Amino acid sequence: ELKGFAFDLDGVIADTAKFHSQAWHQTADKVGTTWTPELQEALKGVSRMDSLEMILKAGGHENDYTQAEKEALAAEKNENYGKLIATLTPDDILPGMKAFLDELVANGYKLSLASASKNAPKILKYLGLTDYFVGIVDPATLHAGKPDPEIFARAAEILDLPANQVAGLEDSSAGIESINGAGELSIGIGSQLKAAKVIFNSTAEVSLANIKAALAE
Ligand code: G6P
Ligand code: MG
Repeated sequence: ELKGFAFDLDGVIADTAKFHSQAWHQTADKVGTTWTPELQEALKGVSRMDSLEMILKAGGHENDYTQAEKEALAAEKNENYGKLIATLTPDDILPGMKAFLDELVANGYKLSLASASKNAPKILKYLGLTDYFVGIVDPATLHAGKPDPEIFARAAEILDLPANQVAGLEDSSAGIESINGAGELSIGIGSQLKAAKVIFNSTAEVSLANIKAALAE
């Protein structure tokens, strides 16, 4: 029986995936990597430095930059991203998600956050959602990011629940792999997430009734 939910943030709760993409697109242009829809999709859920490595590799530039130069590129991306998220308000919560969070709390479920983003606490504050969560996994303390199961395993620990009582919500295939690897129920937002146990086309469809209906099928 489900007792807790571990949430991804970017692209699940907040409409911020577009801001990550916008800022990384600038980086790709700068290093001379062609920006493609496939690259954009593959970067979802991936940590800042791993994302940069993927962008460099996609253009064959993985050996063109020193570690210090890579860190400067990542810092510049985060600065650009920081300007984009500074405009966030509760209106930027994705459709249906405020209602779903309220429904979960009203029904006694515990919530934690499993985002790879170091900006997550700030974003939750902008959205006015900090108090919904028992805790947030600090991505700086992880040995390996998504698709490794560690982040979703830690999110269940924060909830003090065994994996089989936890559902994870994700919009990235790296994240779905992490949830599945942690032994939790994977709920995917996006029809391309074939490895998810439950798949919704958009956040607007996510509700306890719809999850139960999907599981009963
Ligand atoms: C999330 C996003 C990724 C982002 C990562 C790190 O997982 O989906 O696109 O690269 O967080 O975010 P940060 O804010 O720490 O750079
Ligand atoms: Mg995401």
